[in-house]
Order: sequence, then structure tokens, then C-alpha cells
Amino acid sequence: MTSSHADNVAQSAAKIRTAAAGRRPRIAVILGSGLGGLADRLENAVSVPYADLPGFPTLTVQGHSGEVMIGTLGGADVIALKGRKHFYETDDPTPLKTMIRAVKAAGAEILFISNAAGSLRADIKVSELMMITDHINFMGLSPLAGANDEEFGPRFVPMSDAWDTGLQQQLRAAAQKSGAPLHEGVYMAFRGPTFETPAEIRMAIAMGAQAVGMSSVPDCIIARHCGLRVVGCSMITNMGAGLSDEKLSHAHTLENAGRGAAHFEALVEAFVREVAAQDAAA
Ligand code: HPA
Repeated sequence: MTSSHADNVAQSAAKIRTAAAGRRPRIAVILGSGLGGLADRLENAVSVPYADLPGFPTLTVQGHSGEVMIGTLGGADVIALKGRKHFYETDDPTPLKTMIRAVKAAGAEILFISNAAGSLRADIKVSELMMITDHINFMGLSPLAGANDEEFGPRFVPMSDAWDTGLQQQLRAAAQKSGAPLHEGVYMAFRGPTFETPAEIRMAIAMGAQAVGMSSVPDCIIARHCGLRVVGCSMITNMGAGLSDEKLSHAHTLENAGRGAAHFEALVEAFVREVAAQDAAA
């Protein structure tokens, strides 16, 4: 498994580098449910379908199309990953590992993770953004379980700085400049595909989370294992079950993500600009 996985990572990275044609994107952005519109803001964009990248996920969920896009945003080159496979769709974390390790091998240093999430606090409202300051893995599984892929990272991965504090500072600065209001909080990942029960939402609140979702934690773990710095935010698409009268559905998630999309896109663009400006100053 390991050697063909490593080959897939190397081949996919080579294809991404070829498509980038001399550009060297440092930031890769995973676009969560309903947030794919960011890719339309890329200038001089090229696209590589996941289907052309060995070992990449094959996608099934509405609202996700599988495509790597490379283009310019906020004056710097970025990789946008349009679509991911969730742990409610598969037991196999290998395609997600291939995707994240391939962008690292293609030269990315920072992974910006976005998702749609339910809010656990009345002051964090629908179609608003929450920067993820930390997470709770409540999925009952780790993408790194099983034999360690030594060529990509160590067996035991510290998670005390899983969500990079320096990048959080830059995301705060970006929010101020873009005018996108940005809450902050802990993201708790459930495996899904059911939305939570009201009792589970009360548990999540008691455990110290501010938002719940079904993704991003595996992505963060894989990224930290291979040495990517991680930053990200949740688009709040609903209040957690039992906290309001709304009926939860995937259509509802996509609709409310779309409402906040302009703020999300402005935030990511300002973040890319911020990172590029700090690099230029260094
Ligand atoms: N729970 C889990 N995942 C979600 C939610 C939620 O309330 N909203 C969007 N994704």
C-alpha cells in the first residue's frame, strides 16, 4: 500500500507542478461545502480534475466537484482544492492523504481549511465566519491509524499547535482589512452523516466546542503529520440541533453557505495578501 500511495503522491504532485507552469503556490485552500465559488476569483487559473490525479478522491456529494485549481488571488499564487471526501462516505483515508501530501510535495507550505458548520452559540450566527482556534476529534477515528507512512511524517504527531497561532494572527489581520466579521472558536468533528441530536449538541457545548461539523479534523491531522501549517474557518450554515427551530438539511447548508460566501472569499483573499506581504517584509 505504502509504495503505491507514495507513487500516487509523487505523480499527482508532478502533475500539479506541471499545471502550475513555473508558479509556486505556497498556500493551498480546501473549499468546504458551498464555498467553491472562491475558485472563480482566481486569475489566470488552470484546472486539473481530481480524476486525472492518481489516488485523489472520487467525489459524490452534491455541492462538491473534484478539481484542483491553480491561480492568482490577492496578488499571490494559490492552489484551490474544490471538493473533498468525508469520513461519512468512506472508511479509507488514503485518498485524502494523497491529496494533502501531493499539495505539500508540489510546494505548498500552508493549508487553509474551510467547512460548513453548525453554531453552538447564539452570538455566532448563520452565514457568519468562525476562525478555528482548535479542534476536538469526536469522529472516533484517526486518518493516521495503522502503519505509519514514515516517508511523510512521524508516528506520533504533537497537536498542541494544530491550528497555527501565527497564521491565526494573520487571519485576524486579514479579517480586519477585508471587513469580514470573524468569530473564533473550537470546531468539534462528528462523523456524520446524521446531523447531531439536541443531546449531542448539549454535550458538544459542555465539552467546550463552539461549532460542529463533519470534516476538517482529518485534513488537519494529515497536514500536521506531513509538516504543513494549518489555518482555517467555518462558515456557519445553521444553529446546532435543538438551538433553533430550523430543520437541518444539506440543501439548507449549501444555501446558507452561499449567503456568506462573499465574506468568505474576501477573507481568504485578504489572508493570501497578508501572508505575501509578511513574506516580502521578512
Ligand atoms: N452539524 C454537523 N455538520 C454540519 C452542520 C451541523 O449542524 N452544519 C453544517 N455541517
